[in-house]
Amino acid sequence: MSSRAERGISWMTVNYNKINLRSKLRDSSSSRSVRTPRNDIRLNMPLIQTKNLNKEYCTDEVKTPVLFDIDLEINSGEFVSIMGPSGSGKSTLMHILGFLDRLTSGQYLFESADVTGFDDKKLARIRNEKIGFVFQSFNLLPRTTVLENVKLPLQYRPGLKEKEKNEMAESALKAVGLEHRMNFFSNQLSGGEKQRVAIARALVTDPTLIFADEPTGNLDSKSGLQIMEILDKLNKAGKTIILVTHETNTASFAHRIIALKDGRIVSDRKVDNRNQFNGTLK
Ligand SMILES: Nc1ncnc2c1ncn2[C@@H]1O[C@H](COP(=O)(O)OP(=O)(O)OP(=O)(O)O)[C@@H](O)[C@H]1O
Ligand SMILES: [Mg+2]
Repeated sequence: MSSRAERGISWMTVNYNKINLRSKLRDSSSSRSVRTPRNDIRLNMPLIQTKNLNKEYCTDEVKTPVLFDIDLEINSGEFVSIMGPSGSGKSTLMHILGFLDRLTSGQYLFESADVTGFDDKKLARIRNEKIGFVFQSFNLLPRTTVLENVKLPLQYRPGLKEKEKNEMAESALKAVGLEHRMNFFSNQLSGGEKQRVAIARALVTDPTLIFADEPTGNLDSKSGLQIMEILDKLNKAGKTIILVTHETNTASFAHRIIALKDGRIVSDRKVDNRNQFNGTLK
């Protein structure tokens, strides 16, 4: 009998070397109506909707408008890339969508609920339960073990016993092929390994949605591909992925590419010939 933690995470486990999902889910491209096991979100339903979303930063009476009239809809199970020049507002948009920052005006609906006026506590709860983040610079605690880094998001789950937290973190590390590095300090890892630990940390709460802001930006191309392989498999297991990248080849793992310029959406197009890990890369 598997433990509670293993039951919670094993379905999404990516066996990194064999690239075999233990999940019984069919490929999302052939079946768009499967349910993700734990979060029970029906794919193809709106997960994120924004209407006339605007953002301006205010500092010392200087107002800097950054995002303008963003109308966006992203469905559960989608893999969306956001591209655009430096300073175009990609990270700002991602932070607002992930409840790390607030919009200035407009409306934001998450899972069809209007969260625009939610207080910080409510937003933090959604963020901890439903969202995982991966950043370009990994943001791991140095001189702290890999296992402790991955367990961090679970500190907001007081109902969990330490043993369960360890098991969940170990399962998340297995999903990225790094269980053998569990007791290493994070500063003893390569860049690619650090980013895989960051993905495990994002996965440990079994979120429905993963934001990745230039996750391959600091990596060599081989390590970058390994990260994309993991994100691709997680998407096939039902996770919604929103990826910010500067690289067209990396963006092409997504179903859709949204381009921002000067804080506005200038294009939103389907990717016809997606990069996928089915043996060959285009
Ligand atoms: N806290 C802040 N206060 C004031 N202005 C900010 C703040 N954060 C971001 N900005 C401004 O908002 C604009 C968009 O920044 P953002 O980080 O979203 O761009 P980006 O598209 O992610 O760029 P990059 O590709 O370089 O990461 C920039 O002009 C930036 O200077
Ligand atoms: Mg950015």
